[in-house]
Amino acid sequence: MKWKDNIIDSFVWGEIARREEKERVARLIAAMVKDGDVVGIGSGSTSYLALLTIAGRVKREGLFVRAIPTSLEITMACAGLGIPVTNLEENRPDWTFDGADEIDPDLNLIKGRGGAMFREKLLINSSPKTYIIADSSKRVARLGEKFPVPVEVFPQALTYVGQALKELAPTDIRLRMAEGKDGPIITENGNLIVDVWFDGIPEGAEVALKSITGVIESGLFTGYAVEIVDAG
Ligand code: 5RP
Repeated sequence: MKWKDNIIDSFVWGEIARREEKERVARLIAAMVKDGDVVGIGSGSTSYLALLTIAGRVKREGLFVRAIPTSLEITMACAGLGIPVTNLEENRPDWTFDGADEIDPDLNLIKGRGGAMFREKLLINSSPKTYIIADSSKRVARLGEKFPVPVEVFPQALTYVGQALKELAPTDIRLRMAEGKDGPIITENGNLIVDVWFDGIPEGAEVALKSITGVIESGLFTGYAVEIVDAG
């Protein structure tokens, strides 16, 4: 039985920057979907637009497609669009798509503006193929030009992690504060996010960050075998 007047139907994404470019990329991704696919779905507005476009194809063509979402907002969007959701315990994704905040010439990434980098990295590592979907603003000569590296931190480890991060010579370290709630952002895993700014990200930073006790994951994705799909 379906819920009547489901509050999830009122889910709307806010203003989307570079929407036309993102919609072009969304159409390229939606065209790749095959009947029966289990698709890993990243977070952010580009992933959301791709999901909307896939849902259009599912409806028009009667496809059976299941999603493994990486965040609450994408899970809600799937529910509103009638795309069944599964999980990594039950299924391996056939392929995954996800957005990025920065992409360097070697296809290293910064992700996590939306705070979902832990599940995003888990999904990318679990998936045989990942497409990173990007508008032209995402290409940078050097990671860290526009965005900090987000680091998800177990709350009780915040002070220790804050001290340990200084070893990597950042230019600034900030606890990410919430909007629409007092205090810091709390991730879907119950943790905090610390944004770490660098003037040039040091070699080996992804491993160094992960080795700090209390760091759950970072938004640095270095050396992942991803394929970029952009608006051309
Ligand atoms: C969320 C992410 C997003 O993929 C990234 O922030 C890109 O977002 P958008 O598609 O809205 O530009 O990593 O954690």
